[in-house]
Amino acid sequence: MLFEYLSLLFAFASVATALPSSLKARIDPSILPFVTLGRDILDRNGDVFYYKSTNWPGHQEIMIPEGLQHASVASIVSWIPMFGLNSVRLTYATEMIDDIYSNSPNQTLEISVINALGKDNGTIVLQQILERNPEFTKNTTRLQVWDAVAKELGKQGVIVHLDNHVSKAFWCCGENDGNGWFGERFFNVEKWIRGWSFISKHANENWPTFASAGLRNELRNAASAEPVDWYTWYIHMTDAADAVHKAAPDALIFFSGLSYDTYIDAIPLGKTLNGTSGTSTANKTAKFVPSEFPFEDKIVLEIHKYDFEATQDPCPTFKKNWYNKGFQAVNPADSATKYLFPMVVSEWGFIQNGTYWNQTTYNKCLIEMVDDWKVGWMQWEISGSFYLQTRPSRTPPTIQGLEEFWGLLDYNWSAVRSPVTVENSLDKLIAALD
Ligand SMILES: *[C@@H]1O[C@H](CO)[C@@H](O)[C@H](O)[C@H]1NC(C)=O
Ligand SMILES: *[C@@H]1O[C@H](CO)[C@@H](O)[C@H](O)[C@H]1NC(C)=O
Ligand SMILES: *[C@@H]1O[C@H](CO)[C@@H](O)[C@H](O)[C@H]1NC(C)=O
Ligand SMILES: *[C@@H]1O[C@H](CO)[C@@H](O)[C@H](O)[C@H]1NC(C)=O
Ligand SMILES: *[C@@H]1O[C@H](CO)[C@@H](O)[C@H](O)[C@H]1NC(C)=O
Ligand SMILES: *[C@@H]1O[C@H](CO)[C@@H](O)[C@H](O)[C@H]1NC(C)=O
Ligand SMILES: *[C@@H]1O[C@H](CO)[C@@H](O)[C@H](O)[C@H]1NC(C)=O
Ligand SMILES: *[C@@H]1O[C@H](CO)[C@@H](O)[C@H](O)[C@H]1NC(C)=O
Repeated sequence: MLFEYLSLLFAFASVATALPSSLKARIDPSILPFVTLGRDILDRNGDVFYYKSTNWPGHQEIMIPEGLQHASVASIVSWIPMFGLNSVRLTYATEMIDDIYSNSPNQTLEISVINALGKDNGTIVLQQILERNPEFTKNTTRLQVWDAVAKELGKQGVIVHLDNHVSKAFWCCGENDGNGWFGERFFNVEKWIRGWSFISKHANENWPTFASAGLRNELRNAASAEPVDWYTWYIHMTDAADAVHKAAPDALIFFSGLSYDTYIDAIPLGKTLNGTSGTSTANKTAKFVPSEFPFEDKIVLEIHKYDFEATQDPCPTFKKNWYNKGFQAVNPADSATKYLFPMVVSEWGFIQNGTYWNQTTYNKCLIEMVDDWKVGWMQWEISGSFYLQTRPSRTPPTIQGLEEFWGLLDYNWSAVRSPVTVENSLDKLIAALD
């Protein structure tokens, strides 16, 4: 596998050589914009487009994409087509946009890094970022860093999917962590929508391969928030979608489901979306009817799938259970399906340690599912390590320089962490969509 990466690198260097087929992953921006038709995403030429992506988080405390103290923007971006991927899911925090609206002085790289890591470590990490990325200075703002990342993604032919991951910038997701449901401690609905209006317009105008917006990552139960029900989901998600569509009319809009985005079947099944008795949404109902929206041909459903139960289910069982969580959306032959939508598995992943891919049936059945239903996907995640990670439920809650054993890249973002894992998961998922 490593050998293949090296030969690809050499191919990149040689303009005279015909591009190997794996470089098809590089996208020509002129295929944008995308629209949806039934269960498919179509590019400008009318060809079906499947997202084959990894996640690159930028929603944690510093609020810039991870890894820049280890490698340059250009070098991190170059891994994406080298893996055979055609797109990336970039995650952001609404807090970043709030700081733009309030004109906060805390938006420079210097202050962002020091606020997150403290003076001593922050000063060191800032120096590392600037050494690896000499186009930045300590005064470069977070948004300027994002713009540089997006510009490089455009240059290297990588489609950008932008995901609103959290409101307050830290690791996602825990129950009652404040970011989980509309109206929860940090999840101010107006600021979320205001944030989308700003960033989708900005991305539309400035990011050459910006293609789609994921309205909110992993909605989940919260003890202290608006009622947790499909009616509340409908009201706020369609408001946010209106805001995105107004600001970036070409962008696809991804709708995630409930309970950490593990199910969304109510939408393709056209069910009545109910409120909750005994709350402010009692007796309220709505219906998600695509033809009622100006963004009718932009709607994509997203779903997440992890292996927290370390499944040993045989694939027929695994696939049947998972199908019922929303894959009706991509099956015109299912008589229960009321509306067809494209579907993307916007998070899946597991530890990249060389053996896990074969320890449960998850990886194998996931590949079969993608092969059966031809849905796009986004691996979690490219990061080999984080600037820092705050997880309120862990002791200690904050760890600087934490290694990410699920990352495609190693700690230093300089090599593939587990070629055998990539060969047996990512590569097979790519092949499933060829
Ligand atoms: C800037 O960051 C400092 C340190 O975290 C904080 O005390 C201050 O409130 C922030 N200022 C603004 C305008 O957000
Ligand atoms: C950063 O901004 C400060 C204040 O505006 C200025 O004095 C300084 O020269 C700038 N430094 C760099 C490296 O741009
Ligand atoms: C909403 O309530 C109706 C009537 O009880 C029920 O048929 C429908 O399945 C409910 N919707 C969802 C998404 O559960
Ligand atoms: C909801 O409907 C029930 C049955 O029609 C009624 O008894 C109840 O008062 C209604 N609740 C509200 C909050 O309107
Ligand atoms: C990989 O991770 C799994 C799950 O934690 C563990 O059971 C297995 O022993 C690990 N493999 C190696 C080679 O460490
Ligand atoms: C692990 O690999 C072996 C050998 O290829 C295969 O027989 C077995 O089914 C795999 N196990 C799982 C859970 O995929
Ligand atoms: C500073 O960074 C080092 C190296 O990453 C780490 O071991 C140490 O815990 C950090 N200090 C704090 C206060 O987190
Ligand atoms: C990362 O790079 C540092 C400095 O070059 C080196 O000391 C360290 O061993 C590397 N770590 C890994 C896990 O490769």
